[in-house]
Amino acid sequence: MGQNAATNPSREPLPRRRFLAAVAGFSIVSMLAMVATPILGFLIPPKSSGAAAGGKVLVAKVSDIPPGGGKVVPVGSKPTIIVNTDQGMKAYSAICTHLGCIVAFDTGSNTIVCPCHDGRFNPTTGAVVSGPPPSGLTPEEVTVEGDEIFVVST
Ligand code: FES
Repeated sequence: MGQNAATNPSREPLPRRRFLAAVAGFSIVSMLAMVATPILGFLIPPKSSGAAAGGKVLVAKVSDIPPGGGKVVPVGSKPTIIVNTDQGMKAYSAICTHLGCIVAFDTGSNTIVCPCHDGRFNPTTGAVVSGPPPSGLTPEEVTVEGDEIFVVST
């Protein structure tokens, strides 16, 4: 006959204690990781040739944004949209000039689109194509070095 905890109390508490110790240990490690990750993210800047304002910030690989594609990336705390146009790589502030929503690139229409009120922008110039935005997207300086795309943070 098998023994259970009621008949053999010396065997049951040990695995329970180990289980509880493992759960407590995992919880502590998880909590430390949750606290440490944003602190390390703040202390260790992204790869760039000058993380301060005015420096080049690596934002993506060219292979991440194929011709005719676009992607919103963070540059510091600002969202920037990178578009691989037939006239080269272009970058604009991704903040819509109407009411400040974040734009996205629409490959189907080959336009930069604001999801809030369907404002549309030309991916090559950033100019308004249609919708309520009062002005075009603010251009940002972008350079391509090998397979890496850099935007100058301001
Ligand atoms: S916020 Fe972009 S069109 Fe209104």
